[in-house]
Amino acid sequence: MQTIIADMTNQIDEKEMAQAGKILKEGGLVAFPTETVYGLGANALDEQAAFKIYAAKGRPSDNPLIVHIARMEDLYKIVQTVPEEAVKLADKFWPGPLTMIFQKKEIVPYGTTGGLDTVAVRMPNHPVALKMIEAGGGYIAAPSANTSGRPSPTTAQHVADDMDGKIEMILDGGSVGIGVESTIVDLSTGVPTILRPGYINKAMLEEVIGQVEVDPTLLSADCKQRPKAPGMRYKHYAPKADMVIVEGEEENVIAYINDRICEELKKGNCPGVIASDETRHRYCGGAVKSMGSRSDELSISRHLYAVLREFDEQQVSCIFSEAFETPNLGQAIMNRMVKAAGHQIIRV
Ligand code: TXA
Ligand code: MG
Repeated sequence: MQTIIADMTNQIDEKEMAQAGKILKEGGLVAFPTETVYGLGANALDEQAAFKIYAAKGRPSDNPLIVHIARMEDLYKIVQTVPEEAVKLADKFWPGPLTMIFQKKEIVPYGTTGGLDTVAVRMPNHPVALKMIEAGGGYIAAPSANTSGRPSPTTAQHVADDMDGKIEMILDGGSVGIGVESTIVDLSTGVPTILRPGYINKAMLEEVIGQVEVDPTLLSADCKQRPKAPGMRYKHYAPKADMVIVEGEEENVIAYINDRICEELKKGNCPGVIASDETRHRYCGGAVKSMGSRSDELSISRHLYAVLREFDEQQVSCIFSEAFETPNLGQAIMNRMVKAAGHQIIRV
C-alpha cells in the first residue's frame, strides 16, 4: 500500500481533508496529529476498521481504543449515562488532553473496546484532528500511531517510520505540543480514578470535581493488582537499549552517571545519556541528549519520545537518564520514563 502524506502544518488542505474523510468512512486508516501524540484513526463504529488498527500496530486485541469526538453532543450517542462530573470536566478541559471512561452503548462495537462494556472518549484539541473526526463521520477510534511497544510518535516522520506502507494516509500537523498521552479518568464506577497520568493532573481535576483517586498500580512498581487500563499492563515505550534512571541530588547523579560513562567507554561502547539543558555540558562523554529545560516542563514532555527514538537510531550500548520529577507534569513524565526503563531505577 502506498501511504499518502498530506502536509497540513500551515493550513488545512480541504481536498486532502475530504480524501481523509472518505478513507475513514470506507473503513481505512488515517494517522493524524493531536496536542498529545499522533493517533492512528479508524471509524470507531466499524468493527472491521478497528481490527485494522490492531493489525497495523501489532497491538494485542484486548487493549481497548479511545474514541475521539469533535462535538459534545456526540458523546451522548455512544455512552449510557454522562455523570455530572463528566459534564464539568468536559466543560473545563475539552477539547483537550483528557480521556474519560463511560458505560458504552450498543452502537460501539466490542472490537473497539477490546471486549469491554466501557468506552474511553476524548475530544482532542487540534484543528486538524477535529476537522478529520468530523470528515470521517464523528467517531474515530485512535491509539497512538506507533508500532506496539515503541515510543509514541510526536511528529509525522515518527509515524511514517512505523506505519509507512501499512496505512492509507498520514496528516502532517508538525510537532505536537504536549508529547505525552492524555490523562485517563474512569467515571464508570464510584470515585473518579486516574488510570493514566497526563498533562491534566490530579490537582487540576480535583479543582473541578473534588476528590479523585489514582489507580494504585500507578504509584508503586511492585503493586500486585492489575492496572485498570489494559494498556498500562503491557511493556511500553521501550527504547532498544537497556535504560536506567538515576535519582538523587543533582551532583550525585552527575557523578554516578559520569563513572558509568567511563566504564562503558573503556569497554569500547557508546552509552547514551538523557540530561537537561542545565546539565548536558557536565557529562564526560557518550551520546548526551537534553530532554529540555527544567524550568519549562512542557519542553521536557514534548521531547521525551523523540529522544528515545533517536537513541534507537544511534544504537547506543545502554542509556543513563536523570529523573524528571517536575512539579506539574512530573508524574506523567516519570510514568513513561519508568516504563521505558523497565522499572530500573538507581538511587544515589
Ligand atoms: O493522548 C492520547 O490519549 C492518544 C491520542 C492519539 O489521543 N491516544 C492514546 O491511545 O494514547 P492508546 O491506545 O495508546 O492508549 C489508550 C489507553 C490504553 O492504555 C487503554 O488500555 C486505555 O486507554 N483504555 C481505552 N479504553 C479503555 C476502557 N474502556 N477502560 C480502561 N482503559 C481503557
Ligand atoms: Mg499508545
